Amino acid sequence: MPADRILVVDDEDAIREIVCSMLSNANYRCAQASSGLKALALLESGEEFELMLSDLMMAEMSGTDLLEKIKEKYPDMPVVMVTAVHDISVALKAIRDGAYDYLLKPFEREQLLATVRRALENRRLKLENRAYQTKLEALVEQRTAQLGKAVVELERSYDITLEALGNALDLRDAETEGHSRRVTAFTMAIARAIGVPKDEVKVIARGAFLHDIGKMAIPDHILRKPGRLTPEEVLTMREHCYLGYKMLTKIPFLTEAAEIVYAHQEWYDGSGYPRGLKGNEIPLGARIFSIADALDAITSDRPYRPAQSVAAAREEIKRCEGRQFDPQVVRVFLSMPEGIWSELRRNIDAQAHPLAYSYSTAKSSA
Ligand SMILES: [Fe+2]
Repeated sequence: MPADRILVVDDEDAIREIVCSMLSNANYRCAQASSGLKALALLESGEEFELMLSDLMMAEMSGTDLLEKIKEKYPDMPVVMVTAVHDISVALKAIRDGAYDYLLKPFEREQLLATVRRALENRRLKLENRAYQTKLEALVEQRTAQLGKAVVELERSYDITLEALGNALDLRDAETEGHSRRVTAFTMAIARAIGVPKDEVKVIARGAFLHDIGKMAIPDHILRKPGRLTPEEVLTMREHCYLGYKMLTKIPFLTEAAEIVYAHQEWYDGSGYPRGLKGNEIPLGARIFSIADALDAITSDRPYRPAQSVAAAREEIKRCEGRQFDPQVVRVFLSMPEGIWSELRRNIDAQAHPLAYSYSTAKSSA
């Protein structure tokens, strides 16, 4: 370890010399300044010291004035005031003002060295402590960033799994092809227009994307039946809301989305299914979803009729407000520019690879 460097400031040459020779004999490196101004000049020239010993009473600039000038700029260099007995109160004031200690003149060599050692040790501990703090803060910051990244990755892989689930349903139920993705994009657009917070939009998006996942459990002869369903078959079909809910509610990050799946066929006036929920009993996500769902159904081709215009869908949704749809959500929906729906549809339909699905694209712009 290199020897500590000590700056000795005193306007009496003899004292400076004695102090310096005592310090040098104890293997410290010593520099001298015969006034406060010279000490300042030395420090400003870029010379570094681990400690300064300064006489208190000096002609040009007192030790306290010197201390005042340097303490902010060199906070890691402790200052020990050297003083005669009669100005002990000034020495105490200097300590209050930031000096580390004081040394009474005349002093023995051992007293000098003990004070110097204490001051240097104190400085070393302070620096070590600060380095430790900084390291700790950096470590916490680094770990937090790693954790955040892991959570994002985890969420991404969740969503890829969701997409696979949605695609699996598309394979069984051709009519829904692209429907889940479009309805998700429409639902998210309305949710954002309402001002739903970002995290909540994610939950709602998952609910919308998986709304019909319960159809996985509906037998093919009902799900894919070309003609009309019998009343019993209708009842079986309607179970898909609860079945979907049961599937998702066990998955921790889908618990809230499961509520939307459960309620996606409810009507605002209470005449929907499966529970006949009414008004705000229906989760907001489900109330938004039902408008998005109607919009997509009306503007998509069906075996029995061609796709209708967005304007026609707006008309129909307006007509059903208060009955099927939440009037407040309808108001927001109608206030949105008509063109965005066809644009969203085009974007989603243009995605050739199913894995480049709207859900992740829409989410990343969330
Ligand atoms: Fe459904």
